[in-house]
Amino acid sequence: MENKSKEILLQVEDLRIEFGKARNKFVAVNDVSFNIYKGETFGLVGESGSGKTTIGRAIMRINETAGGTIKFRGKVINGKIDRSLDKEVTEKVQMIFQDPMASLNERAKVDYIVSEGLYNLKKFSCEQERKEKVERALKDVGLLPEFASRFPHEFSGGQRQRIGIARVLVMEPELIIADEPISALDVSIRAQVLNILSALKREKGLTYLFIAHDLSVMRFITDRIAVIHKGRIVELAETEELFKNPLHPYTRALLSAIPQPDPVLEKHKKIEIYDPNCHEYEQDPPKWHKLDSDHYILANDKELKEYKKCLK
Ligand SMILES: Nc1ncnc2c1ncn2[C@@H]1O[C@H](COP(=O)(O)OP(=O)(O)OP(=O)(O)O)[C@@H](O)[C@H]1O
Ligand SMILES: [Mg+2]
Repeated sequence: MENKSKEILLQVEDLRIEFGKARNKFVAVNDVSFNIYKGETFGLVGESGSGKTTIGRAIMRINETAGGTIKFRGKVINGKIDRSLDKEVTEKVQMIFQDPMASLNERAKVDYIVSEGLYNLKKFSCEQERKEKVERALKDVGLLPEFASRFPHEFSGGQRQRIGIARVLVMEPELIIADEPISALDVSIRAQVLNILSALKREKGLTYLFIAHDLSVMRFITDRIAVIHKGRIVELAETEELFKNPLHPYTRALLSAIPQPDPVLEKHKKIEIYDPNCHEYEQDPPKWHKLDSDHYILANDKELKEYKKCLK
């Protein structure tokens, strides 16, 4: 797959996000760069607290950025932007949240929950049109139109996540940030929700930024994966390439944590551990390097030589 000919939908360059001030300043995201091509599913994977949601929220313009740029369809969307561009981003970039039990307003009916974005952007000309849009969005996620008059507590976790997806679809987005959309769900219904997301992507030509904290589901749904550790991307490659040639010790640690179906292999497998403090980074700091076939890695000079030897 040659990416150069593809259209870039989202471009993140040298992104830096800080929380707190002065002595309490905490850098949550640093030097993060990646492109998302139109029509692809781009995975962002890393352990809890690595900065995944923070990046998603910065793209949504909820989190302020301390440095770098975020471009959507070639236009800078972080920092101060004009009102029409803000409206465009609010409409075209949508986010699905991790916990469908916490993210739906309990006191509102499904009809209102799904319509909220439509109301905010006045994206309908009459009541009839709004109702039709809600009905279509519910149908797209496999829910009945009569569910519109019910409250969230009447639904199961899987159904609630479908409502969360309907709420996003109603806006006719181009980019959907799916922030661990199945982590909080029962294992038995995770596949259903993933299938809905893939079918919608095909039908509506959507692009996804899919966030997860482990690599197990990523292999089946993503085209490319960026691995993030403590606010920095350590490796980025096409999905198959990353599974074939995981180079960074943190990527290898994440891969070794995936349970093996074979109990003998599982019992004898070695869990790898990555300790970023064990390297001599002060004299030879790591930089972002491009290897073969669109494979990128964060490495210092010494590590880079080792990684190049390991490439299959
Ligand atoms: N509003 C905030 N104020 C201060 N610190 C924050 C804020 N939001 C996030 N952080 C910190 O930034 C870091 C990254 O958090 P983030 O929520 O992006 O992690 P994550 O990768 O999404 O983790 P998880 O897998 O648990 O969802 C964490 O250390 C978190 O405590
Ligand atoms: Mg998160």
